[in-house]
Amino acid sequence: MLDPFKRHINYLRISVTDRCNLRCRYCMPEEGIDMIAHEDILSFEEIEDLVRLSVEQGVTKIRLTGGEPLVRKGIVNLVQMIANIEGVDDLAMTTNGILLEAMATDLKDAGLQRVNISLDTMDAKKFKHITRGGDINKVFAGISAAQAAGLNPVKINCVVRNSGDEPDAKEVAAFCKANNLSIRYIHQMNLEDGSFSKVEGGEGGKCDTCNRIRLTADGTFKPCLFNEAGYNTKTLGNNEAFNQAITNKPKSGTKNKSGRFNQIGG
Ligand code: 5AD
Ligand code: SF4
Repeated sequence: MLDPFKRHINYLRISVTDRCNLRCRYCMPEEGIDMIAHEDILSFEEIEDLVRLSVEQGVTKIRLTGGEPLVRKGIVNLVQMIANIEGVDDLAMTTNGILLEAMATDLKDAGLQRVNISLDTMDAKKFKHITRGGDINKVFAGISAAQAAGLNPVKINCVVRNSGDEPDAKEVAAFCKANNLSIRYIHQMNLEDGSFSKVEGGEGGKCDTCNRIRLTADGTFKPCLFNEAGYNTKTLGNNEAFNQAITNKPKSGTKNKSGRFNQIGG
């Protein structure tokens, strides 16, 4: 489907939960945040219906995000349900990797094609600091398991302050090179002040050619990460919410004072 600026919308990013097993400093405040109430979280059947509708309207690429998608109970079943929908050509996930070691093979068997795994440093202490307590060795184990399971490609998302030339990012890049992983540098962003930028090595942040819309875990279609607009499927109905998100997709991003990364999925 074409939006008003003739961008072909073929990419849907689905946040399957706003919950996470880490508390990255650039994503969540320490004290935690108001979580979406359990009864407001979309069921797998509701997500399946919304993917079907999106595919009928021209979506071919799906990415599951969070929060952390692997903390959603039954996520392997959801992957399978989405993979079975005809017209879904590309099914990917963005994960912090903590739970991936045990789940990689099941995810691949269910039909997940590829993963992006977040890794901002090679230093266990710094990782623990950034994520407020995470164990970097679990991420390394998750990366190996993803490769061994045949998820391909495995890409690393590395959040940087300014550029990929920073020491931590360079060490992550060396690790990627040695392990046949590709790397994308994501500039640390602040939704409220509108400090968004292009993803080096990725597609994000290029408003002119932006092909994506988002679905939050409570069923709201959002046309842009850096815009407050959202169209709830439960109040508007699925078709109307989808159509309004496309019709109201802004020419370019500005600010989002109410949005949160853990709800919109980066
Ligand atoms: N700036 C940039 N990227 C962020 N992410 C979360 N918070 C931010 C932020 N403030 C991204 C991380 C992670 C993905 C799930 O979301 O890159 O890999
Ligand atoms: Fe969790 Fe990802 Fe946010 Fe870190 S960036 S707290 S891993 S959702």
